[in-house]
Amino acid sequence: MLIKRKREWEIPERLATPEALFLNRRALIGGAAGLAAGSLLGGRTALAAPGDASPYPAVRNPAYTLDRPVTPERFSGDYNNFYEFGTSKTVLPAASALKTQPWTLKIDGLVEKPFEIGVDDLIRTVGLEERLYRHRCVEAWSMAVPWTGFPLAKLVALAKPSSGAKYIRFETFMDKAMAPGQRAFYYPWPYTEGLTLAEAGNDLAFVVTGVYGKPLPNQFGAPIRIAVPWKYGFKSAKSLVKVSFTADRPKTFWEGLQASEYGFWANVNPAVPHPRWSQATERVLGTDQRVPTLIYNGYGEQVAGLYKGLEGERLFV
Ligand code: MTE
Repeated sequence: MLIKRKREWEIPERLATPEALFLNRRALIGGAAGLAAGSLLGGRTALAAPGDASPYPAVRNPAYTLDRPVTPERFSGDYNNFYEFGTSKTVLPAASALKTQPWTLKIDGLVEKPFEIGVDDLIRTVGLEERLYRHRCVEAWSMAVPWTGFPLAKLVALAKPSSGAKYIRFETFMDKAMAPGQRAFYYPWPYTEGLTLAEAGNDLAFVVTGVYGKPLPNQFGAPIRIAVPWKYGFKSAKSLVKVSFTADRPKTFWEGLQASEYGFWANVNPAVPHPRWSQATERVLGTDQRVPTLIYNGYGEQVAGLYKGLEGERLFV
């Protein structure tokens, strides 16, 4: 007889968020219904209104579901890539030096009028929602997390890019005193990443300010990062201080380091190996499982159309 034993990671999604917060959220869900349908700049909700003590936890947008259990925070929060704080996965202690209050995001480049906005003001302006996303690192491990944030398209709309803007460039803070990893001179600091404006406008592209129903812990890239779930994890730059709109394709941190291994597009594809390892499967954080990797990390239906006519490019490296 087959006996199904529940594994440690097979938890209901509600346990991904601390229970008190979850119950609180359930109570609020009715009042905040309609968040997902909020207009582009009017998506403010009762949970994130001025005067509210905290916009967390935000209402979960049910349109974003998972094919696997949420990774418990004790695994995802203690296995991080954040080279500013070292090259090991245990950056949590070093990242506690990151000072995230106050924090200002600069919007510049080809926009109607460059501006700066505090992260708290930005959150109050655009509102927050929670989404369950898969995350696939180029190193062939993966996790599934409840991010809190807002569509990148809302930030693009606030920025009002001019017609010449074709790309969006993300830049991480630079502070060698706070981030010892930035003293390593052979890395092209600061960490930068980029997307096309079309990619940035895809509904999956998400600006993240929280996870597991609370503000981002430092090691996840506090206080503001992006999540681009159909691409390898290095595209999801952390602790952003600047978002620039450009006519030319931005050079990224990893391209600057090793362009033959880490390109601009970096879409997940199990059939295209990294030059030094296979991308066919992935190790699921917090489990003893390896599962097949999916093209575009399982988000092909939403994003494959972005790459029509670009077949000549190195879309998967
Ligand atoms: N952003 C910055 N600024 N520095 C980094 O080292 N690492 C990237 C990405 N964003 C990185 C970064 C990589 S390789 C991955 S897989 C993800 O962050 C890891 O995100 P996580 O620690 O939240 O899992």
